[in-house]
This record gives sequence, C-alpha cells and structure tokens, in this order.
Amino acid sequence: MKTPLYTALSQHAEKKPYSFHVPGHHNGDVFFDEARSYYAPLLQLDVTELDGLDDLHHPTGVIQEAEDLLAKLYGADQSFFLVNGTTVGNLAMVMASCGAGDEVFIQRHCHKSVFHAVELAGATPILLETEVDQQLQVPTHVTNETVKQAIAQHPHCRAIVLTYPNYYGHAADLSELVQMCHEAGILVLVDEAHGAHFVLGGDFPPSALSYGADVVVQSAHKTLPAMTMGSYLHVQGDRIDAKRVKTLLTMLQSSSPSYPIMASLDVARAFVEKMKKGSLDGLMSGLEELKEQFRRIPHIEVVESDSLSTDPLKCVIRSTRGLTGYELKRILESVEVHPELADEHQVLLVFGLGQMREVPFPAIEHALQQSDAVLSKVKHRHEKMAVLKDDRQWQGVEAVPFERAEGRRSAESVIPYPPGIPLMIKGERIKVDQINTLSRLLGHHVHVQASQVIQQRKLYVYIEEETL
Ligand SMILES: Cc1ncc(COP(=O)(O)O)c(C=O)c1O
Repeated sequence: MKTPLYTALSQHAEKKPYSFHVPGHHNGDVFFDEARSYYAPLLQLDVTELDGLDDLHHPTGVIQEAEDLLAKLYGADQSFFLVNGTTVGNLAMVMASCGAGDEVFIQRHCHKSVFHAVELAGATPILLETEVDQQLQVPTHVTNETVKQAIAQHPHCRAIVLTYPNYYGHAADLSELVQMCHEAGILVLVDEAHGAHFVLGGDFPPSALSYGADVVVQSAHKTLPAMTMGSYLHVQGDRIDAKRVKTLLTMLQSSSPSYPIMASLDVARAFVEKMKKGSLDGLMSGLEELKEQFRRIPHIEVVESDSLSTDPLKCVIRSTRGLTGYELKRILESVEVHPELADEHQVLLVFGLGQMREVPFPAIEHALQQSDAVLSKVKHRHEKMAVLKDDRQWQGVEAVPFERAEGRRSAESVIPYPPGIPLMIKGERIKVDQINTLSRLLGHHVHVQASQVIQQRKLYVYIEEETL
C-alpha cells in the first residue's frame, strides 16, 4: 500500500538528519526532559518543508501524490489534506460558494463552524429546521419537503449546507434532495465530519460524494485512525470552483502545517484502502458483538433510531433506571471509560474501525450498581424556516435575565460543547424552550461556550429599535 508522504518522512527520519531548521525542538534534540518520553518518536516526523517533503499549499511532490491517492479512493475530482479540522474545510467550502448578500440554506442544527463561515462570507443564512428522531430525541436531517418549500421561497439561493450524518450517525437518503438542489442551481455542500469511513461501503451508509454532493468535508480524525485536526476536503463536478476552494484553504490554514498530522492523513487513507480491498465481515461482526456486550449490561439499553439508517461505529446507550445521559457518562468516567458525549437522555460511544482493547465491563457494572436517579424529558420545537440578520442592523447589545430574554434576538451563539451545535444562534429570536434547555444544561454543569453572563442566568441580546 503506497504512503508517499509518510514514507518520505520516515525515510528522512531514518537518516538521523541534523536540524538547523524550525521547529525549535530540532527533531527532538531540544525538549523539556520530563515530557520527552511521550513525544520523542513523533518529534522525528515533525519537520518543515524540506527538500523532497513538498509543500501543502503548492504541492507538486509527495503531498500531491498522497492527495491524488485520496481523491482516487473517495471518487472525488480533487481532494485536499486539512490540518485545521473540518472547521477550516467548512469555512473554505462556504466562502468559496457564496459571497456578500447571497442567500444560503443552512440546516439549523449544524456545527458552529458553518455559522462562522456564513458570517465571514457575509451571506444571508436561511435556517432549515431539522427533523427530530423520536427514539433518541436528537436532530437528524432536513426533509425533501422542507428543501422544496425553501427553494420555492428563495429561488436564487446559492448553496445548501447539510450535516450528514448527524453526530449520532443517523444518515438520511440524500439522493432526491441533491437532485432537487442541482436542478435549482444550488450547490450542495456537505459537512460529513462523522462519515470519513462511509467510503468503505458494506453496512456503512452511502457517502455524500456518492449522492453527488459538490463539496464534502470529513474529519478523518473522528472516525479514521488519524491525528486530531486531520481532515479531508473533496470536490467533484464543475459546479464548484475548485481553484477558489484551494485559494481559501491556503489563506485560512497555517503556513507551517503539521507534518505528523498530514502524514497521519496519508496513512489513514492507506488504512481505509487496505480495509476496502478485503472483507468487512470481521469488522462488522466485531462491532455488533461489542454493541451486544453493552446490551447485556444490567440497567443499560442500546437505543437505535427507528427511522434512519445508523452508522455501525456509533452506539447510543441509556440507563433504564432513569439516570440522565450526563449522570451515566460520569459513572463510566469514574472507571476510566470515556464516551464521546452525553445529552439529557443518553450517552454516545464511538467505536473504532478495528479491534480495540478489552472493555472493562465488570467495572462498569459495578459502578452502575452504586447509582440511582431521575430522568428528565425534553421537547423539541418545530419551525420550518428562519432568516437570520447580521449585527449591523442592531443598536447595541445588553445582558438581560433569562426571564426577559424570550423573543429577543440573541447577540451571541450559545453552544453546548460537544457537540458544538448552537442551542441559540447569534441573530436568532430566543424561544422559551431554548432558555429552559440552557437552564437544565447549566444545572447539569454541561460545558457551554458563551459569555460568562450565562452563569448569572443572563443572555446577551441585541437592542432593537422597538426595545429602545
Ligand atoms: C458536524 C461537525 N462538523 C464539524 C465539526 C468540526 O470538526 P473538526 O473538529 O474536525 O474541526 C464537528 C466537530 O465536532 C462536527 O461535529
């Protein structure tokens, strides 16, 4: 299996080269002694744009070769390595697709980077409401009907940004939606942060590229064995200006991209390619068996969507004794089992694309036996479409108590993290159930990205003319 970038880097390291160049650890020769043992092997790969190691921003050698292999595997026309996660891919794909004043359809429950991208582009976001899975009570996808209505009302919209799959691995069929958008001249941009492995096929849902999306961004680091911050961006077809995407990536990413991250993207691609050439049977049965072992834990159930296909790498567990997801997560963490995230109802586990260490099931069962609590239920609100306005239209900002925030426009995004999906979006009118949810999250000590005033049960809102 070819790994052009990793091979060039490892061959360079094997020569035990002398470094009179950046980075300042000089292949690990200069380093804080107490931290050396963990870092030492990796520092040998952490070099700069030396002869033969190519340049991410103008690739002509091993990086170009590695990106070409990536495009071939994913069936894209062009693929790019990203060293600042899907965050930078979302920024580049949105900014390459729309400019100031352009309308863009945004799935309401998308990652904050999409909202940031729209703000940087100066575009006008039209929010499309997301369906809610009745089993898990989590936002999933935008329906074809919602998109159809949106196109009818905003026929000049430039692009649609979808999140596919959602954080919990739910994947709706995108074929009709993509066709409908393309017929209306709308670019389809997909944040496939959680689906870099879908290219494997088998029981995994279809990839967004296979549905015909124009640009797809994937966090290789989330589901493939790649280093954190390593992502892929793929373009296909001629609706999107690939050169513009590339220029934006050059502007938005560091001029000193990390070689260990880029090389990990190269080997992650090789890993997937190798797996795709063999049989997926062993992997699939291993994943199912692991899920089964969680099902066998007393007082735990595995919850599945009843309407959408689900990524087999995702496993959602719930307490059958009324613990909230946050409480269940804390119990797991007490025995050093660390889930991806919790919400009010459940805990999300992300499995690996291969054999992992033995799970300490006896310790989990023991910790669970010690616990007890009450489940709270949340209701989701439905509103099919909303247009956001930007800050230039307001008279200023003030902090108001939660009780007086309903109906005001939020002056900042309030984002529980993870998953990084804004509960309130900057510019959005605040609903009472959003305030109630925020109160509950604060009560559960959930990490929420927003100004400190939320701890005093206040929210920053815009001062509109009518409130002066
Ligand atoms: C749907 C979605 N998009 C984008 C991102 C950002 O990805 P990254 O961490 O690779 O920048 C995340 C991160 O959690 C995400 O869940």
